[in-house]
Amino acid sequence: MSNGGGMKLKILFGSVILTVLSLNGFAEDEGLKPAYDAIKVLRPGEVSFKNDVQPILHDYCVSCHSPGGKGLAKSGLDLSSYEGIMKGTVYGPVIVNGNSELSTFTKLLTGTNKGLKMPMGLNSTGTLDRQYILTLMKWVQQGAKNN
Ligand code: HEC
Repeated sequence: MSNGGGMKLKILFGSVILTVLSLNGFAEDEGLKPAYDAIKVLRPGEVSFKNDVQPILHDYCVSCHSPGGKGLAKSGLDLSSYEGIMKGTVYGPVIVNGNSELSTFTKLLTGTNKGLKMPMGLNSTGTLDRQYILTLMKWVQQGAKNN
């Protein structure tokens, strides 16, 4: 009887561990797509284009998405200025105001579109820093202001 109890305990313990492990796995996959709640707690207040967004773009995007860069050459997207971002690619806007899920600008940071992921070149090594992704997403959700 006491053995059976021990067995049950072991099974229970085992399934708790399995559950925790699978929850972790789930959290990691979903982690690439920050939820709205995470964006809210990232930092109180408004994201600033000049102080928060532009430094990220400058370090990770502008080398290709500015005159002379292959990103601008191939897609028409100039990320070196607010006006350029708003203009988008030769196919149209990359920002759907207030919706970071629908905006190509932020969508390509967390997932691929026809194999394309940004910043290009980071594809093999992973993703842009999570904090940066959240900052860019939050900026789009707050209306992509030139602030
Ligand atoms: C190493 C160069 C490089 C870097 C760095 C880079 N890009 Fe790009 N990007 C490209 C190229 C090349 C294309 C065109 C790809 C194509 O159309 O096949 C492109 C296209 C895009 C597009 C348009 C995609 C579409 O569906 O038309 C977006 C949006 C974009 N990049 C965003 C970014 C952002 C945001 C960053 C920084 C976080 C970034 N890129 C960094 C090279 C780069």
